[in-house]
Amino acid sequence: MDYRIKSFDEYKDTYKRSVDDPEKFWAEIAEHFTWQKKWDKTLEWNFDEPKIEWFKGAKLNITENCLDRHLAKRGNKLALIWEPNDPKERYKRFTFKDIHERVCRLANVLKSKGVKKGDRVAIYMPMIPELMFSLLACARIGAIHNVVFAGFSASALADRINDSQCKMVLTADGLFRGTKEIPVKAVVNEALKECPSVQTTLVAKRTGWDVKMQEGRDFWLDDELEKAEAACPAEPMDAEDPLFILYTSGSTGKPKGVVHTCGGYMVYTAYTFANVFQPEESDIYWCTADIGWVTGHSYIVYGPLLNGTTTLMFEGVPTYPGPGRFWQICDKHSVSQFYTAPTAIRALMAHGEDHVLSYGLYTLKVLGSVGEPINREAWEWYQVHVGKGRCPVIDTWWQTETGGIMISAMGDFMPLKPTFAGLPHPGIQPVLLSQEGEEITEPHVQGYLAIKFPWPGMLRTTWGDHERCKNTYFSHYKGYYFTGDGAKKDEDGMFRISGRVDDVINVSGHRFGTAEIENAINSLDDLVAESAVVGYPHEIKGQAIYAYVITKQSPDNPEKLRAEIVEAVVSEIGRIAKPDKIQFVTGLPKTRSGKIMRRILRKIAEGEFDKVGDTSTLLDPDVVDEIKAGAL
Ligand code: WT7
Repeated sequence: MDYRIKSFDEYKDTYKRSVDDPEKFWAEIAEHFTWQKKWDKTLEWNFDEPKIEWFKGAKLNITENCLDRHLAKRGNKLALIWEPNDPKERYKRFTFKDIHERVCRLANVLKSKGVKKGDRVAIYMPMIPELMFSLLACARIGAIHNVVFAGFSASALADRINDSQCKMVLTADGLFRGTKEIPVKAVVNEALKECPSVQTTLVAKRTGWDVKMQEGRDFWLDDELEKAEAACPAEPMDAEDPLFILYTSGSTGKPKGVVHTCGGYMVYTAYTFANVFQPEESDIYWCTADIGWVTGHSYIVYGPLLNGTTTLMFEGVPTYPGPGRFWQICDKHSVSQFYTAPTAIRALMAHGEDHVLSYGLYTLKVLGSVGEPINREAWEWYQVHVGKGRCPVIDTWWQTETGGIMISAMGDFMPLKPTFAGLPHPGIQPVLLSQEGEEITEPHVQGYLAIKFPWPGMLRTTWGDHERCKNTYFSHYKGYYFTGDGAKKDEDGMFRISGRVDDVINVSGHRFGTAEIENAINSLDDLVAESAVVGYPHEIKGQAIYAYVITKQSPDNPEKLRAEIVEAVVSEIGRIAKPDKIQFVTGLPKTRSGKIMRRILRKIAEGEFDKVGDTSTLLDPDVVDEIKAGAL
């Protein structure tokens, strides 16, 4: 597709056009796709309700654009290369034709089990090809996929299934990740004890383990696929019908189900993918994320397939069997575009550059970064040792809610500046706001990052609770989408994102609400009276989790209690949310109205004792000294 921007001048010109007449601009981009029926109106919106409708009246199916459309010209081209956890195991390859057939078969299986358009289907799977096929099979028949990262606990999975009332779960027997083996099906069995809406599970075979199957509810995926027909017509979807729900953490309470729709999400992920990575027809593109996160949805599955690009999917981890694994895979499969997270770069940096220097990496052209701010050291290491000084390092800022990349360079023709995400993509109108909601225009002033005009890939609602969507994103500043991030701009208009300004912690690029972790700790209600969680800087993970816990009785075995607290978090949320430090305290710094002053706790966790600031408004200022004295 020839909608790619090819030079910095063209970017400037395109950006200007996109802001002068956004509807005309996006309608032109949308012309590059296959629609069963064209739209009546390009955009209708207000940020008050909010109500955002793109390509209203249009009909389409995203899988026709990912698969069918490519069959004539690219049917035998590789669509997917799957690299297993263990490098000694054979990798797998699938052409567009192969995937088309597998997706249609799987879609027929879903139908035969009673799944219809609009039904929700949970997907809890390892990084195996069936995971990609599952998303597409749902999209084929208009079922709304709800992918839950396979590192979440049974309890977190159950919450996500129940919130969206999923009818079916697609899963696997077990998974391999590095040296770890996880009994995925057993986790699903545990979760389903609390999930009355689920009627069926389909189980893919990965590990070959003997798992417990419930008669009448659980079916082996392979057996069902064998019985299914190979052809399945694509369900005609309204542009604004939901395509998927993806749960993400906010600053309060339980995770929310961010809803993305068929038409706008398709146009936005495809366009941003093509611009950022500039794939040529023969390129192999690899994003190391898990499909359980939005990065995997938009830039392993949809973005690449929509553009007819070969996408690589990796089951394992960067350090298994050794810290050269990423680079060995890049050379083995001649990867051209590589997209990973700063935390992975920092983890590999810590092992020394010898592990990367032994690989040629001649085919690499573009290096991407996502998930958290990339620090200068990591940016430079990535640029020098991985890119060998030849490849642009592109820092991409975006969120689950934005659907696709919002601020970043593209290809090899944009200005780059370490620690800056750069300029907004066409159609994106970011602004920095002061506390009072004034737009900040002068450079180098820190503000709250907000977006003042809709873009096709933005969230439309939070599942089952539109009010929550409004309150979280559209109420802080009237007329703006509020991102929750702080940022500043330089004199050239390049953005530097500093991170969250709300109670969200970003651990290795994964988002957790402090309240969510506190709730998990407080679930030990016979031991714990109260807790407060904050993030603190961590050399590899970006941020780590620090928990202050008031116990009901003075703990006689603090190590045992710490282990129990960690276990509670692992069981409520998952291993990825494990607190790194747990400090037992007798009180927390609270205002007279009872609000915890997290600013103080953050400074103590950072070790910046002299920067806790004014404590005179606290109910009990002495508690600060006690916490400082016991800091870990
Ligand atoms: C939050 C969104 C975007 C997909 C992965 C994470 C932070 C993300 C960057 C970046 C600085 C970044 C922000 C954002 N973030 N990318 N390039 N520079 N910060 O998606 O889980 O929805 O998290 O991640 O704080 O708000 P997510």
